Amino acid sequence: MALLEIKKYPEKILKEKAAPVESINGNIQRLIDDMIETIHAVSGVGLAANQVGISKRLCIIDVSTKEEKTPLIVLINPVIIEKGGVVEAEEGCLSIPGYTTTIKRAERVYVRGLNREGKHIEIDGTGLLSRALQHEIDHLNGLLIIDRISPIKREFFKKRYRKSLKAATSSK
Ligand code: CO
Repeated sequence: MALLEIKKYPEKILKEKAAPVESINGNIQRLIDDMIETIHAVSGVGLAANQVGISKRLCIIDVSTKEEKTPLIVLINPVIIEKGGVVEAEEGCLSIPGYTTTIKRAERVYVRGLNREGKHIEIDGTGLLSRALQHEIDHLNGLLIIDRISPIKREFFKKRYRKSLKAATSSK
């Protein structure tokens, strides 16, 4: 297994719609295992394959906390079948370090996809799981949290982010 480099905004691959996984072979399963190791290393909630440079419709979700252990979810070619309700909450993204913002999402989503072994799975997500599912499926469609905020907030974000990038490079 290997730790993978997480692509950061504004890398182009994050803006591209990922392609469906055609066959779940050894290469895909190795990628999944590396993504699992990577998400654990950074204590992330979710990770999409295009965040590690592979433009395929595949993501990992782990909403476990110290108090409550839940099984990690591997989701290949996920599709949202149904959604309901609206809820706002603070969200961040591994590809936009140091930034969080309030995002409006469906309260509940019903998602279908395949697992690591290629079996059909269905997930009825509420709470953080619902949010994580929508966030990761957005990634697979080339959408980031900054695409879900108002144009004014986005402009403000871009200015601030450019400044922080500049500060990071000049201090090296
Ligand atoms: Co993200």
